[in-house]
Amino acid sequence: MLRTHTCGELNTGNVEQTVTICGWVDTIRDFGQGKFIDVRDRYGRTQITISPESPEEVKQAVEQFHRECVVQVVGRVKSRPAGQENKKISTGEIEIQAEQAVLLNACQNPPFLPSQVDLPNEDLRLKYRYLDLRRKEMQDTLALRSSVTKGIRDYFEHHGFVDIETPILGRSTPEGARDYLVPSRVHKGEFYALPQSPQIYKQIMMIAGYDRYVQIARCFRDEDLRADRQPEFTQLDMEMSFVDSEDVMGMVDGLIKQLAKDILGIDVELPLPRMTYDEAMTRFGHDAPDLRFGMEIVDCTDVAAKTEFRVFRGVADAGNYVRGINASGAASLFSRKRIDELTTYIQEDFGAKGLAWFKVNEEGELASPIAKNFAAQHLEEIKNKMDAQPGDLLLLIADSWDVSCKALNGLRKRMGAELKLYDEQQMHFSWVVQFPMFDHDAEAERWVAMHHPFTAPLDEDLDRLGTDPGETRAKAYDLVINGYEAGGGTIRIHDSSIQQQVFGLLGMDEEQARERFGFLLDALKYGAPPHGGIALGIDRIVMLFAGLDNIRDCITFPKTQRAADMMTEAPSPVDQEQLEELAIAISKSDS
Ligand code: AMO
Ligand code: AMP
Repeated sequence: MLRTHTCGELNTGNVEQTVTICGWVDTIRDFGQGKFIDVRDRYGRTQITISPESPEEVKQAVEQFHRECVVQVVGRVKSRPAGQENKKISTGEIEIQAEQAVLLNACQNPPFLPSQVDLPNEDLRLKYRYLDLRRKEMQDTLALRSSVTKGIRDYFEHHGFVDIETPILGRSTPEGARDYLVPSRVHKGEFYALPQSPQIYKQIMMIAGYDRYVQIARCFRDEDLRADRQPEFTQLDMEMSFVDSEDVMGMVDGLIKQLAKDILGIDVELPLPRMTYDEAMTRFGHDAPDLRFGMEIVDCTDVAAKTEFRVFRGVADAGNYVRGINASGAASLFSRKRIDELTTYIQEDFGAKGLAWFKVNEEGELASPIAKNFAAQHLEEIKNKMDAQPGDLLLLIADSWDVSCKALNGLRKRMGAELKLYDEQQMHFSWVVQFPMFDHDAEAERWVAMHHPFTAPLDEDLDRLGTDPGETRAKAYDLVINGYEAGGGTIRIHDSSIQQQVFGLLGMDEEQARERFGFLLDALKYGAPPHGGIALGIDRIVMLFAGLDNIRDCITFPKTQRAADMMTEAPSPVDQEQLEELAIAISKSDS
């Protein structure tokens, strides 16, 4: 070992010991006759003192020390003089008087310093990720991530799950995103698909009788990236046999309770609250509502239908909706200019047509440029429905169900954050259940699976599959944390004929279904037990546990918004020879 102690280890108990530490030069401070050099590693920072009494070789050696150099220092541990202690760090009461100093490796002038106060721009951080990963915040997040995965492994092992790996080179797994394809050299013109999830394999493991499967699995999806989406991400993937929805949710409830206790030190009450999809959309306009605060959506369509206000009446008559939220106490905070900003926001981001608003004045009357279009009695009804008190700001949107959900969800989140309706540290865990089986893709005029095609319908909705697919609800459940979808799962179809029927609804005829999923349809005929499971997004959970708002900060080597790795410069062109081996020709394009 090149060291006797780490940079986070020494304290007053080590005083007068001779020690050797190694690490990176964090800061160098000159104090006229000598220097303080902070040496840093993952464990902490230790102050080295070079004084006029230090050996000449030491004084010369440290002349070569610059920030981020790698050094080794031998010396005696001393208590810091009174008044010079740093209570913020574990080594703050001692220093090492250097007796030997060795430059183990130099460092070029770095593009940024791991300990600088201002965060450098993200492209630079990603290009020099090794410097970025030296930052304490990154090290803390990755340590937290390690605790999360360890907690997960311990929990599932305790509950009798078998940790099973599944292939990365496989066949397309339909999770609704584009596949990443890998060309086969052996089978020219044929491709493997990287797994969007281990979905089919874990179902096969149930058919194989493994009963309880778990895997911390890497998934690959070529989709538009956002702050909470990466092309390559990690799932806690699990599957259980002979279960219903409640059993799977109950198993995850226990996991969440344990992780929240062990990692955040908070007590979560079980069972986590459950809400149906319909209720979530009606009350919050979103299937992953942020339940840290209220500000629920209020439906005023019936009043709107009675008013003379053209916009409201027209929308209500057309069978659409007039719904709104009460931003309590916001009237004085929102000037006309800020309300105009909200209007632009809902128009540009959600395609809403307009925003109607009322401020409740001291007398409890609704004031707004549009108020004159309403009879007093209708204003009173709106006021009562929305429980409006003096000082409140009412925001209403008249539009289709979809647009009003999206726009009100956007407004609600924005107002919740602006009005600081929740504490940033607060965590809220819940379930949204009974999603629809299908979404209708109006453009393509076809049904698409809301979760994935292996999802079982609710028993009471089974008959609707044939008659009213749009109204068929699924045995599906999503775990929601602070307004994010943290996980999603379902009970699966274990009957080959129902699976075939669902494929049919999704536009796959028998031949196409056989060609893509013949192996699964066959496997379902060889004694498939009833089964179901879930996958949780580990990157998202770490993000939320760490109080961050971007999963790139929770992934060691993430991709940029344009799916590139700035450090290795992947993706990159390959040799012509490699392409020929794979029988691939690149067509010229302008881009
Ligand atoms: P689903 O597609 O809902 O379900 O994914 C499960 C969870 O994975 C996370 N997630 C992502 N995280 C980061 N970047 C992404 N691109 C990304 N996509 C998804 C989310 C999500 O809730 N096979 C099913 C699970 C099952 O049915 O058992 C599946 O993959 O947190
Ligand atoms: P207009 O007659 O289109 O100029 O609209 C008059 C006012 O009605 C606008 O300033 C908005 O406050 C409101 N408004 C218009 N369209 C909508 C809508 N779809 N939903 C809610 N309010 C609307």
